[in-house]
Amino acid sequence: MTQVDPKDRPSRATEGFFGRRHGKTIRPQQAAALESGLRAYRLDLSAEAPADLATLFKADVSALQLEIGFGGGEHLLHRATEAPATGFIGVEPFVNGMAKMMTALGKRPLANLRVYDDDATRLLDWLPQASLDGIDLLYPDPWPKKKHWKRRFVSRANLDRFARVLKAGGRFRFASDIDSYVNWTLLACRDHGAFAWQASEAAGWHGPYEGWPGTRYEAKAIREGRRPAYLTFTRK
Ligand SMILES: C[S@@+](CC[C@H](N)C(=O)[O-])C[C@H]1O[C@@H](n2cnc3c(N)ncnc32)[C@H](O)[C@@H]1O
Repeated sequence: MTQVDPKDRPSRATEGFFGRRHGKTIRPQQAAALESGLRAYRLDLSAEAPADLATLFKADVSALQLEIGFGGGEHLLHRATEAPATGFIGVEPFVNGMAKMMTALGKRPLANLRVYDDDATRLLDWLPQASLDGIDLLYPDPWPKKKHWKRRFVSRANLDRFARVLKAGGRFRFASDIDSYVNWTLLACRDHGAFAWQASEAAGWHGPYEGWPGTRYEAKAIREGRRPAYLTFTRK
């Protein structure tokens, strides 16, 4: 019987994650940063979520943001550094991405940041109702082939999750360079009913968000000639 390499074996049944957990072997220094970083920053979902999420942070925070699939963490680090009074939770199951983030935090710690290193649907189900001011889903895995569309993170079930955890008036931001995914998300949010789209003209949604630092995935998409769209929805 063919053996599955232990590192390729799913650590548990996953609902929303279909990507790779490991890339190239991480260097010992990064592995050490990952281990100590996760000890300091990782949220423990086996404990009940506090009713007031602000207590999860060492810093005094008055607003709460979630970034799903932060990749190399460029955007999350930028936002968390420029807004020290906002608590950020970043989710990334890809070990190499998390190692990069933990290496950066080893050099420059942030008291307003926590992370989770598995499927974001788990974290969303753990969070208290109406606890977040914003959710960023930036360049989610596009799954461009029609037979894979059901793997896309934007789905009725995940919009239900977003609607539950966002405060009224909270913001859901979605960026993508894949037209079929942009249309998919516009339709899914319209049909869902709990979200209002914030732009009506194409000119408005091809411009990035305020203070946007870019992401690695985005830079590659632009290099390859694709035009990103930046959608913003408000929780009604
Ligand atoms: C195309 S990459 C984009 C990364 C980054 N946002 C950027 O723009 O460079 C999508 C990321 O989403 C992560 N991802 C996929 N499914 C996820 C899930 N269910 N929960 C959390 N992250 C997920 C992947 O590991 C991957 O790093």
